[in-house]
Amino acid sequence: MINSYKVYLLLFLLIVNSCESFIKRPVKAAVVSARKEASDIGIEIMSKGGNAFDAMIATGLALSVCYPNAGNIAGGGFLVYRTYDGKYGSLDYREKAPLLANRDMYLDSIGNILPEKSTLGGLAIGVPGTVAGLFEVHKKFGSLSWETLVEPSIRLAKIGYTVTKKQKKSFDSNRDKFIEINGKNTFYGKNFKIGDKISNLEYANTLELIKKYGKSGFYEGINAERFINSVKQSGGIISKDDLLAYSPVWRDPIQFKYKDLLITSMSPPSSGGVCLGQLFKMIEPYNIGQYNHNSSESIQLMVEAERRSYADRSEFLGDPDFFDVPTNQLLDSIYLINRMSDFNWNQASLSTDIKYGELSIRESDETTHYSIIDKYGNAISVTTTLNGSYGSKVYVEDGGYFLNNEMDDFSSKPGSPNMFGLLGNEANSIHPEKRMLSSMTPTIVEKNKKLYLILGSPGGSKIITSVFQTIINTYEFKMNIQQAVSSSRFHHQWMPDEIIFEPNKFSDYLIDDLKSKGYLINLDKSTSIGRVDAIMVDENGFITCGADPRGDDFASYFRQ
Ligand code: GLY
Repeated sequence: MINSYKVYLLLFLLIVNSCESFIKRPVKAAVVSARKEASDIGIEIMSKGGNAFDAMIATGLALSVCYPNAGNIAGGGFLVYRTYDGKYGSLDYREKAPLLANRDMYLDSIGNILPEKSTLGGLAIGVPGTVAGLFEVHKKFGSLSWETLVEPSIRLAKIGYTVTKKQKKSFDSNRDKFIEINGKNTFYGKNFKIGDKISNLEYANTLELIKKYGKSGFYEGINAERFINSVKQSGGIISKDDLLAYSPVWRDPIQFKYKDLLITSMSPPSSGGVCLGQLFKMIEPYNIGQYNHNSSESIQLMVEAERRSYADRSEFLGDPDFFDVPTNQLLDSIYLINRMSDFNWNQASLSTDIKYGELSIRESDETTHYSIIDKYGNAISVTTTLNGSYGSKVYVEDGGYFLNNEMDDFSSKPGSPNMFGLLGNEANSIHPEKRMLSSMTPTIVEKNKKLYLILGSPGGSKIITSVFQTIINTYEFKMNIQQAVSSSRFHHQWMPDEIIFEPNKFSDYLIDDLKSKGYLINLDKSTSIGRVDAIMVDENGFITCGADPRGDDFASYFRQ
């Protein structure tokens, strides 16, 4: 009897443990990121007395060790925060175009786009912002020493991280490119197996430099030499002057209301906040909660808003330091109501009939997002990227890290189709020291003046729609945060004019119904959409997390 009681108790505890993120528990702090090792390091820092900003730095560096396809020190990102006492801000540590860049750098002598120049190899690399960004966060908000925050990632790089099934697939599908760009002896050219431990001693040494010299450990000295050599060898144009000139920028985030929510997200040079604001304001008059989740009606409404917002994105959004972005007009309620005035429940709009029919959206699934809350109530939403998976694939062999290919987020040829068949424009044309347009959407939501959600996603142009759907799922369709994150997604980005659905998640009946109303659906492009990592705080202050099952994402908690 006692034995069977014990077995039941054990089973119960096992189930409770494995459903961690589904269950409301009185946790003090949480980190949700793409990898368990990184979330755990964030918690380790908070258990040493660090705040959410300290944890943000440590988690970001840990991702650069164990999630090298997107976690990085040679990429860039955006951070949105809300302090415990309700103050908001955001940091732009996006990459910049090198001083020697020019708007035609990816065109041949007769103006045709040179294939792969903006995605693969040295010319694709933007001047990285990550280390400067993390250092800036520490300067303004850090409470533990910089060394304390870097140390756990040095330890992880030395001990090694475990190759997961998904990670092996990712290494396998990129290995040929790693070797093509870096030679057959390149570190990630090895055939890693599931369960292997990868320790990266060169990278541990690079992190030691960053630990000892802070920002200068990356942008100056030995690391700068190594970085520049790798860039040059792979055909790039970044110079020491570029590295020395880089600095991140504190920017006012975008804020807008949706019913009783106050939503805060990233401002340009990310399109995330502006587009998210447009989407919510366009659907607000229709009370989407009256329809079922992922019904024809709710999909139609969201798709039509997406079509119009992404059209505006193509025309009006770029780096505000170089282009006058009309943010207030784009978020004007009357403008957005008018934008939806030709929406018809019985007949899909055609993207070719929607103004600004030329756009510059490139897709990249290989960004990464993490969300953090600390015991004081500070909330941080961070999205960071190398752009493509493992960025430009250029690997600094003696430094142990990959370099971004963020230059591909510019429009290579304004007004003409790029190599992906998409169109670009002046707002996002290439210029020395300009930041390329992003879709990253780190977001914080307040409900009735209290912190409610911290979330974001990777997924290139699909980031914005993934964040949009997750907020709608919790607020309008009353899902808990894990359901809201796990729930199947769809996407429309104006051009190409097609709805993409996640595979095998939407019924034939639903798809036929949408087709009968004129919606163009491309099932051949069915793919996993976004990887949202989110934290929810309910009205009683309980913290729950949603870690996206599409990846190896993991929520770690701190209780005391
Ligand atoms: N590199 C993807 C983005 O910034 O949207």
